[in-house]
Amino acid sequence: MLIDFKTFYSRLDNIRHLPTLPTIVSEVNGLLQDSDTTLEILCRTIEKDQAIVSKLLSLVNSAFYGFQSKVDSLSNALVLLGFNTIRNAILSLSIIESFSDVKDLEGFEIADFWHHSLEVAVISRKIAEHAKAALPDSSFVAGLLHDTGKVLMLASFQDLFRQIWQSVRRDNLTFLEAEKRLLPVQHPMIGAYLAKKWQLPSDLIQAVKYHHAPQLKSEENKMQMVIYLADRIVNSSSETQVVADQLDLDIDTVPWAAALMDSLAEWYPPLQAEVESACAFFFANN
Ligand SMILES: [Fe+2]
Ligand SMILES: [Fe+2]
Repeated sequence: MLIDFKTFYSRLDNIRHLPTLPTIVSEVNGLLQDSDTTLEILCRTIEKDQAIVSKLLSLVNSAFYGFQSKVDSLSNALVLLGFNTIRNAILSLSIIESFSDVKDLEGFEIADFWHHSLEVAVISRKIAEHAKAALPDSSFVAGLLHDTGKVLMLASFQDLFRQIWQSVRRDNLTFLEAEKRLLPVQHPMIGAYLAKKWQLPSDLIQAVKYHHAPQLKSEENKMQMVIYLADRIVNSSSETQVVADQLDLDIDTVPWAAALMDSLAEWYPPLQAEVESACAFFFANN
């Protein structure tokens, strides 16, 4: 072990510049919890942040949403997409933006990291939609967030990150395997720590925390399973198609997930175009 549990957490608690989300995120979250919030109030709040407004409009007009006619105002975007979708779009843009200062390190490319995260986000949204397992837009955000523990480590604990990354390359290990050898806490916990600091909803925090080991009995939080499946599918898609028996848990106990894996060949390949349009948009705007 490179560090013990207590020292690790005290370093985590003492990070001076934890990535932050813009205040607009918590303001919008607060408004959406208030049943008196009107379209007008929401618009007025979001319009205080003109950078977000222009990014939102270009997102709504991008191939990612694919509307036929041009959406030229925030209120139209809110009406067309709904409050929750806009809230999650603001959150997604802010998450990527909050890590914009992080630099590549010896073969760990930030662009590849976000490509993977966006791919998991798109697949998660689809799985949630298909299986009615969780809210699709929230699942997109959870997919985007799932590995942020890695970039937080890269940004704030470069000494530890470097040694893990060297072990990944030298010993031919997965990132998680290398972390388990060297750290008392791995990136899912670190990402969940950040999501908690950001006061994100608890289903998102749990989905990040358990994305490598979903709690099968957790019927009330299927989002964990959604993110786990999406991550496994993305990680294995360069090899042969992932099939249910390659997963390291007994998926038969989760009928909706088993059915989804059985039909993978039908629904997964067409999603590549959606992944590319998500990447084109989020990379162009960050
Ligand atoms: Fe991960
Ligand atoms: Fe991942």
